[in-house]
Amino acid sequence: MADQQGRTFVVTGATSGLGLVTARELAAHGGRVLLAVRDAARGEEVASSLRRAYPGAEVEVRRVDLLDLRSIRRAAEEIGEEEAVDVLINNAGISIPDLAWVSPASVGEGHASSGWRCVAPELAVSVR
Ligand SMILES: NC(=O)c1ccc[n+]([C@@H]2O[C@H](COP(=O)([O-])OP(=O)(O)OC[C@H]3O[C@@H](n4cnc5c(N)ncnc54)[C@H](OP(=O)(O)O)[C@@H]3O)[C@@H](O)[C@H]2O)c1
Repeated sequence: MADQQGRTFVVTGATSGLGLVTARELAAHGGRVLLAVRDAARGEEVASSLRRAYPGAEVEVRRVDLLDLRSIRRAAEEIGEEEAVDVLINNAGISIPDLAWVSPASVGEGHASSGWRCVAPELAVSVR
């Protein structure tokens, strides 16, 4: 990976799996990384471990639950007020075999169908 200094990344689902690896590699290469996670305590543990592994790494936690549209809006607005984001990595998600689209009922303030995988990243981008 090339040097990422001067660039700010938001990585959703950075507490485990591919998101954690992505966040780690970006931090290791000088990127400023905002860990967008639903479990802030776990996020802080990850942030601490990355700062220990890569002294000087700029890693911070932002809480967001991608199953909650209000949480997404809040996080997007807060991040947007703080700083410019160069790259949003819409990693968080789960694999659900049935690709149910968002039902009308789920487009309100809460949504529980697997359509969140489509709607949440879209909203996170469009809010900014
Ligand atoms: N691994 C594969 O082989 C594979 C293949 C194809 C596609 N993918 C996709 O790649 C992405 C990452 O996969 P992975 O295997 O690394 O998954 P993973 O280890 O299960 O990690 C998923 C991450 O998403 C977070 N997350 C789940 N629901 C969330 C929510 N409502 N709000 C905020 N964060 C949430 C989890 O947070 P918590 O820790 O709080 O649960 C976790 O950090 C997923 O979108 C998956 O569908 C993976």
